[in-house]
Amino acid sequence: MYKHEETCYEAVNDDNAFSIFKQNQKFVEILEHVTYEQGLLYVTEIKKYQYKHYDWNLFLENDIIGNPLTYNYYNQLYEAKMNTYNISPTTLRYICFGLKILEYFKQNMQQNIDIVEIGGGYGGQCKILQDIFHQNNIQIKSYTLIDLDGVCKLQNKYLTTLGFTNIITLSNTECLEKIYEKYDLCISNYALGEFQKNIQDFYINNILLRSRLHFITWNTYPIHDFFMYSNFVEESPQTNPTVFKNVIITSNYAFT
Ligand SMILES: C[S@@+](CC[C@H](N)C(=O)[O-])C[C@H]1O[C@@H](n2cnc3c(N)ncnc32)[C@H](O)[C@@H]1O
Repeated sequence: MYKHEETCYEAVNDDNAFSIFKQNQKFVEILEHVTYEQGLLYVTEIKKYQYKHYDWNLFLENDIIGNPLTYNYYNQLYEAKMNTYNISPTTLRYICFGLKILEYFKQNMQQNIDIVEIGGGYGGQCKILQDIFHQNNIQIKSYTLIDLDGVCKLQNKYLTTLGFTNIITLSNTECLEKIYEKYDLCISNYALGEFQKNIQDFYINNILLRSRLHFITWNTYPIHDFFMYSNFVEESPQTNPTVFKNVIITSNYAFT
């Protein structure tokens, strides 16, 4: 079992552990490690979008559960109205990615969509992306998260506590039996690229090939051949300190 999966089980079974899981060291290493300085870079990126139009208090619900480390971003974000400017940098990353995913998806006028996310952590991206899509009048019929069993159970508890009713969580070992015939959008940030090649192949054959559009943040080398005809943009802000830069891979509309 992965170290962070153990923490997930603890948080699912014990409400005290749930109330502080975002500061559990085993969890921080994998899922809650965005620094204050990276948060500043995400704010710069967020400000390229219509960030003032959003209900930031809705986004900040993401910091109410799990007691994450927060920092004050008032000097950077005072033009957006919210009850507190103490924000987790990870939440800023999810807002930044949510806005990027919207920008990409907006070219497509579809409604009542089915989304699937592979390796979605505790469900923070799912929460924020849904907030952003709803505020842009895009209805999400279902949002499926595929992850390790313990992580799925945490996602379920986390997102149910936040009031979402359209969530389906599927463990990696059982997902084949329950996946839909088709998805409108597949998301995988800092996840698919980290898996072993046979696991990447599994998700490509069973999920990506059923998804009309994809938005993948790939953070390893090499990039899977499946994405040969996709679009590539360097991640911005760039979070890979090595010579191999992270890329955001999106499906080419011309091929969908
Ligand atoms: C580095 S985290 C990225 C989390 C999230 N996407 C984010 O942006 O914060 C990698 C995710 O992949 C998940 N994962 C690991 N092995 C997996 C597998 N075989 N199938 C699906 N998810 C897996 C982990 O549990 C974790 O949620």
